[in-house]
Amino acid sequence: MKRGNPGCNGRGTSPAGSNDLTPVEIGIEDVPDLFTVRTATRENALSRQQLSALGIDESSVIRMLETSHRGWLCRDGSRVVGFAMGNGLTGEMWVVAVLPEYEGRGIGRALLGRVEAYLRSRGRSRLWLTTDVDPSLRAYGFYRRCGWRDWKIASGLRYMKKTAANRM
Ligand SMILES: CC(C)(COP(=O)(O)OP(=O)(O)OC[C@H]1O[C@@H](n2cnc3c(N)ncnc32)[C@H](O)[C@@H]1OP(=O)(O)O)[C@@H](O)C(=O)NCCC(=O)NCCS
Repeated sequence: MKRGNPGCNGRGTSPAGSNDLTPVEIGIEDVPDLFTVRTATRENALSRQQLSALGIDESSVIRMLETSHRGWLCRDGSRVVGFAMGNGLTGEMWVVAVLPEYEGRGIGRALLGRVEAYLRSRGRSRLWLTTDVDPSLRAYGFYRRCGWRDWKIASGLRYMKKTAANRM
């Protein structure tokens, strides 16, 4: 993609000006940057301590990337501004996160779509995720807009699913 093209889905220029935001696959060396983004989102932010209490730290994410998961990220220059990861063994869309000043530019949709394509390439026809139960959070409307549908609420989490029929 040419310099000046905003990438991802092509809406406007990046806040920093003119960098290519096309999703690229996450490598082990990117893992620290994923934590920088995940702990800095406008909504649903989790601190490193909260993530650690869930068993999520840099070592566990590296293990996931080496075994069950793949993911993609968008950079603005050298800065990682969003990323998403999914579990090819279970069909779980595990995480998507975009920095506040980069929201609303199509980055989340592009990353989600990239991970969905990966999960389908692994033979997962029924994709699923968990998110906050609060429908006023941006994430819920975002997932609905991207073709995800409500499945169930269990253990204080909202489960959503996406099948071939919901593809957008
Ligand atoms: C949720 C999140 C990933 C969305 O990323 P984003 O880059 O702002 O989303 P996009 O700009 O790609 O939006 C994709 C589409 O969803 C729509 N959308 C987004 N939020 C919406 C909402 N609350 N209601 C309706 N539509 C919504 C957009 O208008 C856009 O529609 P379009 O492509 O038809 O124009 C981002 O807000 C985020 O990181 N939130 C905090 C972390 C989080 O909650 N992660 C997910 C759950 S843990």
